[in-house]
Amino acid sequence: MAIERTLSIIKPDAVAKNVIGQIYTRFENAGLKVIAARMAQLSRTEAEGFYAVHRERPFFKDLVDFMISGPVMIQALEGEGAIAKNRELMGATDPKKADKGTIRADFADSIDANAVHGSDAEETAKVEISYFFPALNVYSR
Ligand code: TYD
Repeated sequence: MAIERTLSIIKPDAVAKNVIGQIYTRFENAGLKVIAARMAQLSRTEAEGFYAVHRERPFFKDLVDFMISGPVMIQALEGEGAIAKNRELMGATDPKKADKGTIRADFADSIDANAVHGSDAEETAKVEISYFFPALNVYSR
């Protein structure tokens, strides 16, 4: 399988629960390397830009409000099949539907406060990584 890169965000609910380390351990145990990381308090403009594809969805304003409600931990992950592997580790969007042992099943409370973000495809991974790590773009695959 190809070596890929994906964008991961540990959302404000999981940062507040103090589980950044536990989530990083899951990345590491799955063979995903953290190749860039920064903690940030997103501005409304940054969060709206990041989730622009969802602009017309009914949950958009709540999603942006949530994403700016506290600090987030943003990382680029690299590894074999990193995009799908990270989505597997995350579990379904709604934690009630997420498989046992996934990050969302273990740490998320609801569909809107669901602990983590992960790119869903190669093209979105590229766009999302360069959104938060423009310098890394130079080396991106
Ligand atoms: P989406 O891209 O569908 O899910 P995922 O994060 O699993 O890729 O949606 C983006 C985020 O929008 C999701 O993580 C939480 C929020 N959201 C809601 O608050 N309500 C909803 O009904 C949906 C579908 C998403």
